[in-house]
Amino acid sequence: MKTRITELFGIQHPIIQGGMHYVGFAELAAAVSNAGGLGIITGLTQRTPQLLAEEIAKCKALTDKPFGVNLTFLPVLTAPDYPGYIRVILDAGIKAVETAGNNPQKWLPALHEAGVKVIHKCTSVRHSLKAQAIGCDAISVDGFECGGHPGEDDIPNFILLPRAADELKIPFVASGGMADGRSLVAALALGAEGMNMGTRFIATKEAPVHQNVKDAIVAASELDTRLVMRPLRNTERVLRNAAVDRLLEKEKTLGASIKFEDIIEEVAGVYPKIMMDGTMDAGAWSCGMVAGLIHDVPTCKELIDRIMAEAEAIITQRLAKFAAS
Ligand SMILES: Cc1cc2nc3c(=O)[nH]c(=O)nc-3n(C[C@H](O)[C@H](O)[C@H](O)COP(=O)(O)O)c2cc1C
Repeated sequence: MKTRITELFGIQHPIIQGGMHYVGFAELAAAVSNAGGLGIITGLTQRTPQLLAEEIAKCKALTDKPFGVNLTFLPVLTAPDYPGYIRVILDAGIKAVETAGNNPQKWLPALHEAGVKVIHKCTSVRHSLKAQAIGCDAISVDGFECGGHPGEDDIPNFILLPRAADELKIPFVASGGMADGRSLVAALALGAEGMNMGTRFIATKEAPVHQNVKDAIVAASELDTRLVMRPLRNTERVLRNAAVDRLLEKEKTLGASIKFEDIIEEVAGVYPKIMMDGTMDAGAWSCGMVAGLIHDVPTCKELIDRIMAEAEAIITQRLAKFAAS
């Protein structure tokens, strides 16, 4: 399937694996890219630029297909070594960067000069327009359903995607709640030129996370996520567990006076414990409502092949039948 997204990134299928903390390692990115999508290594999971360089080298040994790097610009006081990470990306000849969080404007000239295509993740039309205006090449439009940070506007993809289509000139992918061929066809119908998946790719054979994480996603329904850190305007959609219940209780009790320090135990440094050790109640970890649509743990190739076959069948059979009647 050809779209402006497949053309932009030189990939076979319009499917991107979003950056995911402690999930987006070389093994997953390479598996997604080998299956014809765009795999993404999560930059900041590598604690130093040197470690990112090593992870990129590992990925290159596993695939000769294009893959990208996610750079998340965090709202923190002591920023990570972003110039160092950018240098590593450029030196490695990476051609796709997924940015998220703050405005990536400062880094665009260097990235574009090296021929890197930048897809910025946005949870609103106004941020998407800003990203387009500063020169981003594409947008990942992330609806309220998404795992991770859905922003503070709470607009689901059935509204957000057609709104983005009405306003944007650059191509965009639908992100949040995407799982199968139905998601892809719906995303295309609403104006997107592909889709980005996070949670769905965690429940794959190649995702290098503990089996408990995959089992938790398969066991979860669409009712099992919660929004945390809303009072801090840093809303995150996570899978409900004992730590999340505790965190929400603190939010209720402390109200508007809550500070990050109050919930540090539930949110700081918990990802390695969950993703590597499989200690599922160690803290709050991102997960989308789409967990309700995930019932198996296929390989990335099985997943992507299945999505493309299902999408094609929906377009050529189910939809064509309606159009002809
Ligand atoms: C466990 C997990 C960790 C994530 N970490 C990041 C991250 O570090 N940076 C980022 O830009 N997005 C992150 N995301 C968001 C994903 O890239 C993607 O936008 C989101 O998962 C899409 O929604 P879905 O889960 O419904 O597919 C994360 C998502 C999950 C589930």
